[in-house]
Amino acid sequence: MRFFSVLGASALLVAPALAQTWTSCNPLNTTCPEDPALGINHTFVFNTSTTVANSFNITAGAITYDDNGAGFTVAKKGDSPTIQSQFYIFFGSVSVIMKAASGQGIISSIVLESDDLDEIDWEFMGGNTTFAETNYFGKGNETSYNRALYYPASSNVQENFHNYTVLWTSAQLQWLIDGQLVRTLPYADANGGANYPQTPMTVRMGIWAGGDPDNSPGTIEWAGGLTDYSKGPYTMYVQSATVNDFSTGKAYEYSDHSGSWQSIKVIQGTSAVNQTIVAAATPHLSMAQKFQALPQTTKLAIYGGSGAAGALLLAAIVFSCIRQRRKGRRERDAYNAQVEQEREQAYRDQMELREKGLGGWDKKEFDHQGEDALGGWGGSYVPTTSANDLPAAASKFPGNVTVNEVPSRTNSPALPRGVDPVSRMQTPSLASPAPQSPRAWSGGNQGGLVQNAGNAYSGGYGANPNIPRSPSFPLSPQVPQQRGPGGYNSGGYSRF
Ligand SMILES: *[C@@H]1O[C@H](CO)[C@@H](O)[C@H](O)[C@H]1NC(C)=O
Ligand SMILES: *[C@@H]1O[C@H](CO)[C@@H](O)[C@H](O)[C@H]1NC(C)=O
Ligand SMILES: *[C@@H]1O[C@H](CO)[C@@H](O)[C@H](O)[C@H]1NC(C)=O
Ligand SMILES: *[C@@H]1O[C@H](CO)[C@@H](O)[C@H](O)[C@H]1NC(C)=O
Ligand SMILES: *[C@@H]1O[C@H](CO)[C@@H](O)[C@H](O)[C@H]1NC(C)=O
Ligand SMILES: *[C@@H]1O[C@H](CO)[C@@H](O)[C@H](O)[C@H]1NC(C)=O
Ligand SMILES: *[C@@H]1O[C@H](CO)[C@@H](O)[C@H](O)[C@H]1NC(C)=O
Ligand SMILES: *[C@@H]1O[C@H](CO)[C@@H](O)[C@H](O)[C@H]1NC(C)=O
Repeated sequence: MRFFSVLGASALLVAPALAQTWTSCNPLNTTCPEDPALGINHTFVFNTSTTVANSFNITAGAITYDDNGAGFTVAKKGDSPTIQSQFYIFFGSVSVIMKAASGQGIISSIVLESDDLDEIDWEFMGGNTTFAETNYFGKGNETSYNRALYYPASSNVQENFHNYTVLWTSAQLQWLIDGQLVRTLPYADANGGANYPQTPMTVRMGIWAGGDPDNSPGTIEWAGGLTDYSKGPYTMYVQSATVNDFSTGKAYEYSDHSGSWQSIKVIQGTSAVNQTIVAAATPHLSMAQKFQALPQTTKLAIYGGSGAAGALLLAAIVFSCIRQRRKGRRERDAYNAQVEQEREQAYRDQMELREKGLGGWDKKEFDHQGEDALGGWGGSYVPTTSANDLPAAASKFPGNVTVNEVPSRTNSPALPRGVDPVSRMQTPSLASPAPQSPRAWSGGNQGGLVQNAGNAYSGGYGANPNIPRSPSFPLSPQVPQQRGPGGYNSGGYSRF
């Protein structure tokens, strides 16, 4: 049994309102913003907070997550954690795998609710371990109380997960428990269609205490008796919800104030949830992760191959890591894509150089420097002191690039004792110690942007300790809590 009221200030004082059944804008007598559509079929799995963060609003309380799924708990008076989908479906099916809460007077519920208060319900009374209540409302009409019908599940609804399905078309409404049809409501049977739910619905799930002593006697009776909070907490668990939207589009719009399904306009496009889901399905790896994920051969090629390609890529990774920390997610993605592209190009260039026998191998330098000539490392090589020693291969290097830095090595045997090596950030001076010649790329040892693998992310930048090697990013935005505990809605309609 439920009651209808338009909440006013005084109602706020008395009614622990059912958090699910309210609307912030009723299109029957005003013009409301269009409803964002789901527009696709999707199974929302509530094993982490991400699903709720991405696709639902928490309209009251807080949700917990564990092996059972999302937990909705009444621990004390006024608790009524509730979520509401950010999307609407316009006919469709909803299958929720859930376990109801125990506790006399505690109501676990799945509610489909539209802007003009069409409503389809599953409700579970905590004092009843066997039965589920099915119910519906059209345009908030509650003048008749014979719509609620109760059906048993095959086993205890509080100890076992069951599959509670609503299958909703313009012709009929069906309720199924574990795939077994329990109730069918043809359109005409709902007051000639006038009370038939037929406008775009959000999906809401939550728990509240219908048996709170402050509720009306009718509500307490319907809920199965007074709630004893001292015997709690009482928790409802939702594992998943498969939601199939039978309309495809990005939004639904009331084209008039009739509230009839024929008046609903489907606006074509890709829904926001679709976009979120597609984005979530595309892994967002950091550049560090991407680098780790590269095949070993590629990594080796990058480390030790043609100096230019490897150094450019690693520089790109370093830049990317720094930039990632500073920029927004979207920009980061775009940048990652660009770096990815550059990586591929660099790799292709490198392969091409190899095929042509260029890059990464310079016999003269190799004879002179040993493995350090293979690029990318600097190794123990200490730059030569005279411009005459510049490698012959310098001519391969594109003319407009000059690298003014050389690897600095505190343990360099080539530097006189007590003389500091040239800082990477400085332009080498001609004064003591020995002149550090500007060096042109030889295809060999100019990979000196990076000193060693373990230091790859900071190596090129003077090993600034303030630059973390594995930046971490907040991957999912925090969803601000919409309402205070109790889920009161002062603006719209509420039923309890
Ligand atoms: C229209 O709005 C008024 C107040 O805003 C409300 O009292 C009335 O019930 C609404 N009518 C319908 C059909 O929702
Ligand atoms: C999401 O939208 C795209 C169009 O942008 C569409 O191709 C795709 O099928 C949609 N995804 C699903 C799961 O329907
Ligand atoms: C969604 O599922 C329904 C069956 O529940 C099916 O008829 C419909 O084609 C599906 N829609 C999409 C976009 O896959
Ligand atoms: C959550 O469920 C999804 C879909 O079944 C699965 O891909 C994912 O690995 C699960 N995550 C965790 C943390 O269990
Ligand atoms: C969810 O919350 C956002 C942000 O407050 C709001 O813009 C949006 O209308 C809410 N969605 C629904 C269906 O209430
Ligand atoms: C559970 O609900 C059903 C349907 O209302 C009722 O017949 C049954 O007696 C209830 N059981 C308990 C223990 O209240
Ligand atoms: C509300 O529903 C009752 C019966 O279900 C019906 O007699 C009455 O006309 C309805 N009221 C409105 C305003 O549709
Ligand atoms: C729940 O029941 C519906 C209706 O029979 C079915 O389509 C769906 O696959 C079931 N879901 C699960 C997870 O078993």
